[in-house]
Parts: sequence; C-alpha cells; structure tokens
Amino acid sequence: MKYSVREPSAGLSSDLLIIPVSKSQNRSGKFIPDWLSARSNALVRKTVALERFGADFAEPLLITNPEESVKRILLIGCGKEKELTRPLAEKIIHTIQSVQEKINGKKAHLPVSDSGLFGIADIWLLAELDSIGRYRFHGYKSKSDKLKNKFSEWIFLCENQASSSVKNEINAAVSRTGALAFARDLANTPGNLMTPAGFVREVRKQFRNKKPVKLTVRDGRYMQGQSMGALLAVAAGSKQPPFLLEMQYRSKRKKAKTLMLVGKGITFDSGGISIKPAAKMEDMKFDMAGGAAVAGVMKAVADLQPDVNVTGIIPLAENMLGGSAVKPGDVVTACNGKTIEIINTDAEGRLVLADALAWGVKKFKPDYVIDLATLTGSIVSALADKAAGLFCNDDELKKILLSCGEESYERLWPMPLWDDYNKQLESTVADLKNLGGRWGGSVTAAKFLEPFVDGKPWAHIDIAGTAYDVQDRPLLGKGATGFGVKLLLKFLDKIPPVK
Ligand code: BES
Ligand code: MN
Ligand code: ZN
Repeated sequence: MKYSVREPSAGLSSDLLIIPVSKSQNRSGKFIPDWLSARSNALVRKTVALERFGADFAEPLLITNPEESVKRILLIGCGKEKELTRPLAEKIIHTIQSVQEKINGKKAHLPVSDSGLFGIADIWLLAELDSIGRYRFHGYKSKSDKLKNKFSEWIFLCENQASSSVKNEINAAVSRTGALAFARDLANTPGNLMTPAGFVREVRKQFRNKKPVKLTVRDGRYMQGQSMGALLAVAAGSKQPPFLLEMQYRSKRKKAKTLMLVGKGITFDSGGISIKPAAKMEDMKFDMAGGAAVAGVMKAVADLQPDVNVTGIIPLAENMLGGSAVKPGDVVTACNGKTIEIINTDAEGRLVLADALAWGVKKFKPDYVIDLATLTGSIVSALADKAAGLFCNDDELKKILLSCGEESYERLWPMPLWDDYNKQLESTVADLKNLGGRWGGSVTAAKFLEPFVDGKPWAHIDIAGTAYDVQDRPLLGKGATGFGVKLLLKFLDKIPPVK
C-alpha cells in the first residue's frame, strides 16, 4: 500500500474521492473541495441536501459519477464531531474499507485541510489505521481468504505543499504498522508451528537485514549455567526446548537512557500438571502475545532508530505436562537466588518472567523496565477487553504510560502494588509461592514479579484481556491485536530523563 501527499488540482483523476461531512457543514457546502468540477460539486450539494446527514455517524453514501475524472465520491456523515478522535477515525476507516471492498478501483483521494475534520496532523493516523485494517492473517485454509480490498494507493490532498515532516510521519506510521503486523502474525500462528524454536526462527528471519538490532539466542544449557530454575521448571514438561531471546538496540546518542522490555513467551499454555479445562484452551496459543509485541517493537526500533537504548528480552517455553513436568509442591530457585514453591503449574508466566527480569536487570542495568504479559484471567474479569492492567512502582513512569495508552488507544488502567498483598504469597517452605489465592489474582501476580526487578522503575502490563479477540474494534478483527506495540513505540518518544 502506498500513501502519499500532493496538492489538489482540477481535473485530478480518482477512483474514489472521500469527503467527510459533518452536521454543521451540511448547508454551507464548504466541505466540498473547490477544485472539484462544477458538475460534481452540484451533485454533491444536491445529495447532501437530500440526505441531511444528522448528528450521528451515518451510513456512507456513494455517488457514482461516471462522466467525470473523479469516478466515485464517498460521502461519510461524521455527525457533530469537530475533532478527529482515534475511535472516530477507526469508524471512518472501517467504513471506507467496507466500501472499497465492493467497488473497483486502485486510487483513493482524501482532501485534508486544517479547517476540516481531517487536518494535516491527522494524515499519519489515517494511514496507520488504513494499514491496520488491511491486515489479514494468511491462515491455513486450502482456499485462503484474500483481502477483497484492491485499492493500492491513498493520496492525501492538501493545499500547502506536503512538507517532508508529513512524509516522515507517514513513513513512521507505516513502520509501526509493519511492526504491529509482525507481532500479530507471531501471535496468530498456531502453537504447533509457533514453538519456542519456531518463534526464534521467525525473529531471526525478520532481523536478518535489520542491522541496528543485535539478536542473541540462548538455550537451556545457558539457562542452567545461569541457574534459571524458574524458567527451566516451566519448560521441563515439554519436548520443545526453551529459548531466551535478547534483542539489543543501542542509540548513537551518548548518555541515552536504557529501556528494557520483557515479553512473556509461552508458546502454548496447557496449564501443565494443573491442567486447564478444555473450553477455550486453544486460545492459549496466544500466550506469547507479550513476547510478540516486544519483538514487534524491536522491529520498528530497527527502522526508526530512536534516541533511547532498547533491550528486548523474551523467555520462550511451552507449558506442558510430560513425565518430567514440574509438580505442585516442588520448590525451584530463580537466577537471583529467590526460592519459589510451585502451588499451581498454570501460574507459569510469572515464573518465566521472574528469571527473565532478574537476569536482564542484572545484565543490562536498565533505567526503566516494562514487561508485557498475558498473565492472569483475573485482569480479564476486572477490565475485560477494554484496557490492560498497569502495575507500576514509579509515579512518573505510570503517568507517562497512562497518557501513551490514551493516545495510542491501547488503553491502560492503574492497578495497585500495595505491600498488603504480600501476605498472600508467603510460603511455608520457600521465599515465595507462585499462587496468591482466590482474590486479587492480577495484583498478587504483579506482586510476585516485584522482587525480581531489584527496585528499578518498573511497569508490568497485564494484557490477558486485550491481546486477542477484542470486541467492537472492527479494524482489529479476530485473533491477535498486537496490543502494546503502538503503546510502547509512543513511550519511546516520551521517555523521561532519569532523576
Ligand atoms: N496464560 C494464563 C492467563 C490468561 C488467561 C491469558 C486468560 C489469557 C486469557 C496464565 O498463565 C494463567 O493460567 N493464569 C492463571 C493463574 C492462576 C493459576 C493463579 C489464571 O489467571 O487463571
Ligand atoms: Mn497458565
Ligand atoms: Zn500462561
């Protein structure tokens, strides 16, 4: 898909001209670009007068205009909105894409001006959303579902010459959505193909030509050498060997801050000996969505080369119940020496994260740590698919992440990290147990992780409810959402100086 910006001109030839109509503009006709021919102009005016776009978002109206160089005009009633919010833009793009699926054509044009609903500052957002909505997982049907939308070029028309910064923003948006698509592909791939080794293979393929990011893959032997007893315990029940992925980007800027991202990479979570019920167990192929998001962020980082050092760490394992699987009651030791009594083998995410966090914090001495994980069903009970839970030990970091969540519409909601919850994790035989009891499950999971970040400014983001199959977001469709990629890329632009 190509997105470009140019000046409008009379006689421009287009397969589809998109014109948003808001209620206040109905009568004035101001929303009609003045370079449009008198005939088309009259047609649009008459249609709008007949249809009276109201205060609510309306069904789009497609005008066929066969004699003109502008073949079709799509009027979208945007109600009384004056500002383009992300949810409104999502609705508009979804509407445009549904129309594009039904008609022939390649080139779509969209006028933008700072007096209309679509401003110059919105161009990147429209491009980003169009690109997100075009994502399809390739799937494995013998007759594959192909993208029906044959449009291949979007041209934004704006009066003042398109500045290079607009072009840069479009390019950055395209990079971000490429990273998002990569994360979604990783997460959507079934567990038999997306094993820990499969994940490593896909990431290797992706970063082969991405020099700015250095990839290091470590195996079970390395984990043994590092005494990563918690990560190894989770992997013990599977024939699939575990891996620890490290992806390093170093900014050219001296004194750049270092951000460490850790993503849960359970390629399938059966629950282990504490086996899960059969219903919806297939969804547990998505249990590496946090890791996928981290890999996606690193892909975009390689393109965008921000002024921040970023290290991505993904502990990869399959949680199964083979003969050598870890059992309830077993005690294991994480690489920082903390002992853990395993009460429930289905609380495996915190185990792999514990070793990955402790190892990474010690090795990279990051200024900030953020982990992303499909960690608990309890966060789904609390927030459903509308927000991810944010657990953060640093007020400034928390504030910035919340605002990044709003802006990217990958929303976060703050959850507590009070020490009052620690009692639920006390074990009679070890430093900690991996189960916090019935209540406050997402909080006790976060409290479990806390001793492994060594007091660093840290945010834990529980994405169990937002990582796949979200409702009422037509652009995202079924399957993996790539939640976290846009959020964290936004965060890279806002990373605060260390106190
Ligand atoms: N991967 C699951 C959490 C999950 C649940 C992700 C629903 C996506 C949707 C995690 O490993 C898990 O099994 N958590 C248990 C923890 C419990 C045993 C303490 C849970 O939340 O039930
Ligand atoms: Mn589990
Ligand atoms: Zn899990």
